Amino acid sequence: MTDRILLSPPHMSGEERRLVERVFDSNWIAPVGPAIDAFERELEQCTGANHACALSSGTAAIHLALRLLGVEPGDLVLCSSLTFVASANPILMCGAEPVFVDSDPDSWCMSTAALERVLHELAREGRTPRACVAVSLYGQSADLPGISELCREHGVRLLDEAAEALGATHGDRMAGTFGDLGVYSFNGNKIITTSGGGALVGEDPRLVERARFLSTQARDPSPINAYEHSTPGFNYRMSNLLAAVGSGQLRVLGERVAARRRIFETYRDGLEATGRIEWMPEAPHGTCTRWLTCGLVADEGERDRLLGHLDSEGIEARPVWKPMHLQPLFAGRRYEPHAPGRDVSGELFDRGICLPSGSSLSEPDQARVIDSIRGFFR
Ligand SMILES: Cc1ncc(COP(=O)(O)O)c(C=O)c1O
Repeated sequence: MTDRILLSPPHMSGEERRLVERVFDSNWIAPVGPAIDAFERELEQCTGANHACALSSGTAAIHLALRLLGVEPGDLVLCSSLTFVASANPILMCGAEPVFVDSDPDSWCMSTAALERVLHELAREGRTPRACVAVSLYGQSADLPGISELCREHGVRLLDEAAEALGATHGDRMAGTFGDLGVYSFNGNKIITTSGGGALVGEDPRLVERARFLSTQARDPSPINAYEHSTPGFNYRMSNLLAAVGSGQLRVLGERVAARRRIFETYRDGLEATGRIEWMPEAPHGTCTRWLTCGLVADEGERDRLLGHLDSEGIEARPVWKPMHLQPLFAGRRYEPHAPGRDVSGELFDRGICLPSGSSLSEPDQARVIDSIRGFFR
């Protein structure tokens, strides 16, 4: 790699190589095997989730979760607007209709006020959404108890979409464990990685067992292992080889959270004197992992100039996610703002940037980012 500073590169612990070699030695190079079983037990232990199913990606986990929650063509599915498109694409993959919900300025995650309003409006129209995809963004837990309560009141199933928030807490519980089902991603840019991978977690053993069944082509039980199928399945299971990488990574999750939080504090302290960046708040309800350090600058013009400046100095930074209600893909879809006339996620997109946040980012590189931003504001 060059000396370009990357946004969030993988950070191996050193244990992964030994664990992967063990898999090679046993020849379990398949989407089945003891490393997957071990990884699932470790993930359950680490998150407090009752049951986990390791899958090929977070996107696959969201798609399977929506199917398991009964989402069918024509159904309405609520979804955070400020997120990566993979939270919403599976809604389309189910033939359902997304309804986007704005962010709360205090957490940047789904606005409970907007959710409540849209649920009431839909109820008045005689429509009940089948499910709600509530995203915990950039390592910050959404108001999951509040969202979960509203969903329960209105008979809506909750998907706790914590692709970016493994290790984040709400009170003493982990993001990902509040919904009917929860989802994590282990993509290469996440706080821990299996290079590509994801998981679905839940309280109900039948739902998670069903996920295992559907993710491995939905082959009906048979005494002679006949290839008999009565429902369409998917090829969504995690490889046993990658699960071994995941086991090595899970062991250092606590250290990775601490490192990312320290990086955020270094940026915050180092740039305080500029008075030009308003950081993503840490919601008082829990601990944010600071998966990515995000902040707001004055306006869209300043955001673009700063991103261009950092790029020219070999520093990879990104705008905050472009909200789904502003995407051409979802043009014309229903959207509920945080307050009438106040589009919070749109404002966050216009002014938001994400800074290099990888847990392996060295102190000299953190200083380089800070110097570059100070230089820009001078
Ligand atoms: C919020 C969010 N949801 C879903 C995903 C999809 O996860 P994956 O890349 O593992 O499919 C990602 C990241 O990639 C994400 O950031």
